[in-house]
Amino acid sequence: MMMAFCHRLVRCFHQKTVHSTASWFTVDSKAYYCQGISKPDLSIEDQASLYVHWPYCSKRCTYCNFNKYINRDVDNVRMTMCLAKETRTLMEYSGVSRINSIFFGGGTPSLAEPRTISTVIGAVTETAKLQAEAEVTLEVNPTLLETGKLGDFRAAGINRVSIGVQALNDTDLNILGREHTSMDSLKCVEEAVSLYPGRVSVDVIFGRPGQTLERWIKELHQILSICDKHVSLYQLTLERGTQLFKWVQNGLLELPHEDIMADMYIEAVKILEKHGFEQYEVSNFAKNGARSNHNQAYWTGQQYIGVGPGAHGRFVPQGLGRSTREARIQTLEPAHWMFEVEKKGHATRKVVEQTHIDILKELVALGLRTKEGVTHESWSLRCPDPNLWSLCNESTVSSLITQQFLILDHQSLRTTRKGMAVLDTILPDLILVIENKFSQFINNQGQDDNYSGCAKKDSVMSIYKDS
Ligand SMILES: C[S@@+](CC[C@H](N)C(=O)[O-])C[C@H]1O[C@@H](n2cnc3c(N)ncnc32)[C@H](O)[C@@H]1O
Ligand code: SF4
Repeated sequence: MMMAFCHRLVRCFHQKTVHSTASWFTVDSKAYYCQGISKPDLSIEDQASLYVHWPYCSKRCTYCNFNKYINRDVDNVRMTMCLAKETRTLMEYSGVSRINSIFFGGGTPSLAEPRTISTVIGAVTETAKLQAEAEVTLEVNPTLLETGKLGDFRAAGINRVSIGVQALNDTDLNILGREHTSMDSLKCVEEAVSLYPGRVSVDVIFGRPGQTLERWIKELHQILSICDKHVSLYQLTLERGTQLFKWVQNGLLELPHEDIMADMYIEAVKILEKHGFEQYEVSNFAKNGARSNHNQAYWTGQQYIGVGPGAHGRFVPQGLGRSTREARIQTLEPAHWMFEVEKKGHATRKVVEQTHIDILKELVALGLRTKEGVTHESWSLRCPDPNLWSLCNESTVSSLITQQFLILDHQSLRTTRKGMAVLDTILPDLILVIENKFSQFINNQGQDDNYSGCAKKDSVMSIYKDS
């Protein structure tokens, strides 16, 4: 099998998650509790994480295709009011009684005013309980301006920062279109570590144009000498429509060969582990247990509410009297988003009811990215029968186990080290197995109407019916 390496950025808030009510799958979810980060005193539907999207940046980076808008003249007051309003509305829809973590992402949320952060946190606590010591993360671009705001963000309620260092090489930062130098990043990380000790993460991109393995290893050692307890490593993805894509297409720049990229990843994992960092997910490394709770919630299939332009969410809108988990997407463009929030209290553009097969596919696709994999507990919460062991009867799965890409034991289904590196290649086969296994199961049950819900296609509801 041709294996592709798998350490690209996964936008967790763009994932799909499912829940429905078909009888073979029906578990009284109130009786079951989430595994992982959530506390065992509430059901899955009574708690969630919150993602808040700040859509503005001061400059377009050459590689980025996230939902961001270049605007140096942001209406902060209006934006803040709308973020708080949509937070209240969607939290009411979800009916959750507790928020476990908050993540302010972007765009560049460190360009927002600290008051925006405290106002959104205030809206959360008006509606539900914010778990004691809940992780509240802010993505920070390491310019001097934003470094100067780190103390005010802490006072506003932020207790963890994720800094977009990307590279410690000024030529590369220039090519990436970043607005900061390596020196700015060093200052920002130093200041952040003094203000948020043990709760600073750095994002680094490798596989940059012209980068060699030797230069990468040297740079990684330098990053390790300044960083705190969390590192996220992303292989540069060439996104269509970006400036970098055009430069590479036109032959002006060249990315390293994919074998070199693979070596960069393998060497980085070894070096990080030597320095005491545990690889707990394909792209994420933590020292002394400083894992990101918020991201773990995505990877273990917990509920999350997405607020702000283009944000995605997955939750059961209990507050609207519904019992099916839905995928929700907010309006992308900030001006339209604000207009809709002001008019209706939220700007959800699309709602998709999701099937059980989808929830399992998602659980496997995201769970296998993690060190712990998909546990029997988390599988049986979503699907008591057939159980996780039964996947082993499928030749594709047993062959991946024999070839030592996968492990299935009493704890979980998970990748080996070699399996994690090629997850993108083995995942489509696994997903197909789940699809086939469930259609087979449904067929074996005959044409009982109770089962038809499991095989049904996702249904897209018009948001305007949604209140
Ligand atoms: C969209 S950014 C938002 C955070 C912040 N604005 C920044 O630039 O640091 C989140 C992270 O995604 C990663 N990222 C974005 N586009 C990428 C790409 N094309 N390839 C690899 N990583 C990417 C970067 O490491 C970045 O820190
Ligand atoms: S990488 Fe970050 S700062 Fe650059 S354009 Fe994208 S979101 Fe904005």
